[in-house]
Amino acid sequence: MEKFVIVGGNRLKGSIKANGSKNASLPILAATLLTGGVCTIHQVPRLKDVFVMQELLAYLGAKVTFEGNTMTVDGSKVQPQEISEDIMRKMRASNLVLGPLLGRFGHVKISHPGGCNIGSRPMNLHFKGLNALKANITEKFGYISADASQLTGTVVHFDVPSVGATENMMMAGVLAEGTTVLRNAAKEPEIVDLQNFLNALGAKIVGAGTDVIRIEGVKELGSVTHTVIPDRIEAGTHMIAAAITQGDVTVTNIIPEHLDPVIYKLKEVGVQVDVGDDWVRVQGTGQLKAVDIKTMPYPGFPTDMQSQMMALLSIADGTSVITETIFENRFKHVPEFRRMGADIYLEGHTAVVKGVKRLTGACVEATDLRAGAALILAALAGENGTVLSNISHIDRGYERIEIKYNSLGARIIRVNS
Ligand code: EPZ
Repeated sequence: MEKFVIVGGNRLKGSIKANGSKNASLPILAATLLTGGVCTIHQVPRLKDVFVMQELLAYLGAKVTFEGNTMTVDGSKVQPQEISEDIMRKMRASNLVLGPLLGRFGHVKISHPGGCNIGSRPMNLHFKGLNALKANITEKFGYISADASQLTGTVVHFDVPSVGATENMMMAGVLAEGTTVLRNAAKEPEIVDLQNFLNALGAKIVGAGTDVIRIEGVKELGSVTHTVIPDRIEAGTHMIAAAITQGDVTVTNIIPEHLDPVIYKLKEVGVQVDVGDDWVRVQGTGQLKAVDIKTMPYPGFPTDMQSQMMALLSIADGTSVITETIFENRFKHVPEFRRMGADIYLEGHTAVVKGVKRLTGACVEATDLRAGAALILAALAGENGTVLSNISHIDRGYERIEIKYNSLGARIIRVNS
């Protein structure tokens, strides 16, 4: 099992480029199942989760090539095979094939993707929406079966603005009869990117990025070439790497407005942040002030940046209060931070973070993707060395992160234990 050995203390300096967005790539790749045409998608990150989606598409009969950061999918031979547990359990986002397969073939059978370390991750909103479109869904023996002779557009209101349920319903509505209206839809930039991809394929969708999305059903879709938006969570992680080491780092290939909540919070902490057209420069100013964080659906502070921000605030002056409102179990990184000397205590969905002078190295483990990234940030600022295990979580969402950070002066070695 691979580990990172990280020696802290260096200030990161220089410039790194953000990759394409994992959370835009996954729904867009699932959406290729809607068409018998050819989809060429650029700026797809080479991440474990993307390789899992590639495997899933090929398993369903698509002809897939992935060279550099360009994935090409020919969906002409796709069939709605039953998707077994071993593929489905690899990645929660496998559930995004529900909408496209149901929309194009009227049938899909997948093993339940299960939850993960950050929460139970139910799919009730996905099922409620698909049922409203006249799909018949049964859950038995760990499998989800959905059938629909013809999906029929209607108005669907989400109890909470679920990203995945919004994406599944957008894809299910594309080939449905009539118009589907999604209310209280999620507004993340990745949903806007999915709308742009689908419309380029011939779909008729308006409203992504707002809480009302309208999908007018069409008969068939064609082919498309599309470039995925940059990864705002990867870029935000790099911004905090600069701040926590009092460094000076420019992150390029970003869309600044997607990072607004992180930019404004870092400025509140006392970090210098300069913003260009497609870049952001983060410089330490020698001081870090405690601030309060409450994770919210976009455009609020992203839950996927909560653990990284906690790493920064664990060495800020003062006490910060972090409230996690999206997932019910997304503080598993706290015991690991405590092993590094952080002073954090939990009250339900709230973490009270009392800043300490400096974290010390320790043996810690990544409990999920973003927690793992946050532990790298803590180790970069920590005294002495840190051994971080379970780093396969990190490879799901960051392409060779150690190479990027070592190019900025970090000292991270990937070892096989
Ligand atoms: C997406 O997950 C992202 N994953 C997550 O990023 C991200 O944390 C999350 O959105 C929130 O922004 C991808 O895009 C691949 P949700 P998703 O449905 O769609 C509840 C990362 O680190 N809910 O918006 O699964 C759910 O339990 C990952 O890159 C229901 O109750 O998230 C959660 O509390 C982690 N019923 C809340 O909604 C449902 O049917 C938000 O979940 C669906 C969701």
